[in-house]
Formats: sequence, C-alpha cells, structure tokens
Amino acid sequence: MKKLTIAIDGHASTGKSSIAKKLAIKYGYIYINSGSMYRAVTLYVIQNNLLLLLKSDIDLFIKKLSSTSIHFKFNDNDLISEIYMNNINIEQQINTLEVSEMVSEIAAIPEIRREMVKLQRNIDRNMGVVMDGRDIGSVVFPDADIKLFLTASDSVRAKRRFDEMILKGESVKYESILNNIKNRDKLDSSRLDSPLVIEKDAFLIDNSNMTINDQLEVISNIIDKKLLN
Ligand code: C5P
Repeated sequence: MKKLTIAIDGHASTGKSSIAKKLAIKYGYIYINSGSMYRAVTLYVIQNNLLLLLKSDIDLFIKKLSSTSIHFKFNDNDLISEIYMNNINIEQQINTLEVSEMVSEIAAIPEIRREMVKLQRNIDRNMGVVMDGRDIGSVVFPDADIKLFLTASDSVRAKRRFDEMILKGESVKYESILNNIKNRDKLDSSRLDSPLVIEKDAFLIDNSNMTINDQLEVISNIIDKKLLN
C-alpha cells in the first residue's frame, strides 16, 4: 500500500491536530505537530530568560538552541507522538496561554524557522506522515501528496479552545483566547518568511459547522481516492 505525505495547514485553533491525530491512527501514519516545535522554542526562551538574547544576537541564540534536543517520542498508549525537550515531556507546558501569546512572534524569525524546517524534513516519510502547521504544504513539503487548509469562524475557534483549556483546569478568559487567535492569524499571515497561505492545490475545509467525524469522512474520501490512483 502506498504511504502518503499529508500536509495540514490552516488558521489557529481550527482543530488541525485533532483531525491529524485521527488520520494518523486510521492510516497507521506518523503524526507530527510542527506548531509544538515552535511552542517548544518559545518555552525554552521563557524558561531560560532568553528574549533579550534572541533579539540582540540571533546567531548565539541558535547556537544555544542547537545544544537543546527537541524531539518526538511515540506514546504507545495514546498512539500519538509527543514532544520532548532534553528528554522531558513538555506537551502540557507548551499549551499555556503564556506560550501562545509569544509563539507567533518567535515563529516569524527566519533563523528559527530554518532550524525547525530542517528537523521537520528529517522525518522518515516512508511510513506515511501527517504533519500540521502553517507552512507544511508551502515550504516544508511542497511535494506533499495531499494538502489541506482548515479554517473556521473566529468565535467557533475561540469557543473550542476555551472549552479545551477549561477542561484542563486552566483559568482563562474567552476574550483573551479570541484576541490571541486573531493576533496569531494576523502575524502568521503577514510575516515575510513562510507566511500562512492557501496553496493552489490545497483542499479548503471550513469546519465551523462540522464535527470531527464529518471532517474525518470528508478527508478520508480524499485520501482513499489518492490511494487508489
Ligand atoms: O499549531 P499551533 O497553533 O500550536 O502553532 C503555534 C504557532 O506556531 C502558530 O500560531 C504559528 O505562529 C507557529 N507555527 C508556524 N509554522 C508552523 C507551525 C506553527 O509558524 N508550521
């Protein structure tokens, strides 16, 4: 059976990682959340107080960063890969509002993108890969077999993210989440290096009124058709 590379890009909090995980499990592919890599760098900056260095000497920052290991490990229980920094599982720590509020500014820095894209392209695609992010179909894997672009209304996205964070026990305000989502979209779409764009050959999916199962059905149809070709 052919193994595909599936690129999922789109606006913030459109459920890219939820659908990507389901697709990876269904087809037995590797799932990589590229956003969590930019979040890991942001966490590294926060934990080590490196914002000033990042702004004043990017080369030295990259040198320090390269002595830090950022990698994914497969979790056999949940059947997904989780992100580790220096062998510590940081899945929880990277998904706070503090990280979300800084990450897009950091992800706009070309030198940091170059490092992350290198790591992303190192992944063995022979097993089949689902990768989600902002530049996967345009920069990381322009040759992807399937490109998807997910979007949804601002309010639906903010409500989903808000519910998710409340469930995790975080104390957040709906308005802060809505503002964060809008700001990130603006920064991601307007940056000079690898801005968020809808590729000509991408399937555009507005999931404002779709359940996760609706999306799984639509996307599985696209994949199954490709597998038959
Ligand atoms: O996917 P997630 O929302 O967790 O990504 C966090 C941030 O990382 C995004 O808002 C974006 O600024 C950045 N990002 C990026 N390129 C990617 C993935 C994420 O610039 N491929």
